[in-house]
Amino acid sequence: MLYLVIIGYLLTRFAVYKKWMSLMTHQKLWNIVLLMTFIVTSVTALPFAIDGLSGLLMPYLRTLGEWHTDFGLVMIIVAVFHAAWHWRYMKAFIKKTRGPTPA
Ligand code: HEM
Repeated sequence: MLYLVIIGYLLTRFAVYKKWMSLMTHQKLWNIVLLMTFIVTSVTALPFAIDGLSGLLMPYLRTLGEWHTDFGLVMIIVAVFHAAWHWRYMKAFIKKTRGPTPA
């Protein structure tokens, strides 16, 4: 799964380089993957966090745990790409928010 994500990312990056795909489409596509993996990771965490749900979904807990871990790992990888694109913005944001508070 992780290799697929990295290969997929490199393929769409190559498509941008070859001008088969715009940079905007590439970023939109991976932003959607990031959102989807976040949603699946969060939803599959719920039965572990909420007692009532874990009782109700007991037979599926193992599968849900596996999904949670797999989608969570993909989310981390895509989040790293995402942070790398927006690194300059984030650095500027952190610098600004760390400044002295006005009197
Ligand atoms: C949206 C973000 C996330 C939320 C809200 C979340 C929440 C949770 C919760 C509530 C549990 C159960 C903890 C317990 O019972 O003590 C859990 C377990 C776990 N989480 Fe996450 N988590 C998130 C992201 C991730 C990510 C990115 C990973 C990386 C792979 C990850 C890996 C795991 C693993 C391996 C477990 C144990 C699963 C099992 O027992 O089958 N989680 N998480």
